[in-house]
Amino acid sequence: MTMALTGKTAIVTGAVGGIGAAIVRTFLAQGAQVSMIDVDQARGHAFASQLAAEGHKVAFVDADVSSFEACQRAYERITAELGGADILVNNVGISPKTNGRALRVYEMPPAEWDKVVDVNLNSVFYMTHLATPHMVQQRAGRVINMSSVAGKAYCDIVAAHYAATKAGLLGLTRHWAAELGEFDITVNGLAPGRISTPLLKSVPQEINDAVTRVTSLGRLGTPEEVADACLFFASDQARFVTGQVLDVAGGWLMT
Ligand SMILES: NC(=O)c1ccc[n+]([C@@H]2O[C@H](COP(=O)([O-])OP(=O)(O)OC[C@H]3O[C@@H](n4cnc5c(N)ncnc54)[C@H](O)[C@@H]3O)[C@@H](O)[C@H]2O)c1
Repeated sequence: MTMALTGKTAIVTGAVGGIGAAIVRTFLAQGAQVSMIDVDQARGHAFASQLAAEGHKVAFVDADVSSFEACQRAYERITAELGGADILVNNVGISPKTNGRALRVYEMPPAEWDKVVDVNLNSVFYMTHLATPHMVQQRAGRVINMSSVAGKAYCDIVAAHYAATKAGLLGLTRHWAAELGEFDITVNGLAPGRISTPLLKSVPQEINDAVTRVTSLGRLGTPEEVADACLFFASDQARFVTGQVLDVAGGWLMT
């Protein structure tokens, strides 16, 4: 049986977190080989060993994607092992809180601002800069950026650094879609709502309960539901879709 991603190679950043791991598993189930990048060395190696034992073709590189040099080293190692990527999923993202609360502008240490910009936004440029020459050369490719509904609408759970970087991904998605279309490279994004992953544990349970009450579908999303939408953008079914950011939010924060 031919699967949606047979013969394709993907890179996923933040690959061992809740949504990243679900994307990795979904892509593998559709016949792709997947290179995983994550700063969490122990969990990354354990996840990679488990997937390899299940018979999947995977590579894991531990790297902090907030540094261009680290991305460059990771990309070189990945391509040496699995070749250039057909699909890049810029999934990595952090949303720091202090005592479960998003800091306001007058409270936020500039170092925290810089860290979020480096991880959530700059890494997306670094990885796309590194991965697209191969896609341009082969005149085919898919770039998928993990934004958030908090990049499209005001969301009091997150801080401004998170909102700004996720909004930045909307601009990057549109701009790169225009720049890269002539090479048959599509660039799309996902805007998850409240998804049940470790990232959610940084806020008190009552906040997640409050979000559930104002979500049309009346529940939090699962990482697999985000991964399914990601698979659509990566697949041939989405070949004429570019520059779009799809909400996967169960009707929360509809704009
Ligand atoms: N969970 C949600 O409700 C939600 C909602 C909207 C958007 N998102 C976005 O989805 C993406 C994945 O989120 P998640 O919920 O799976 O988060 P998560 O915290 O479960 O996973 C994030 C992963 O990124 C890795 N990581 C963090 N900093 C890194 C760095 N500097 N270099 C390399 N790896 C690093 C972590 O080790 C972790 O494995 C993020 O971009 C997040 O902003 C999540």
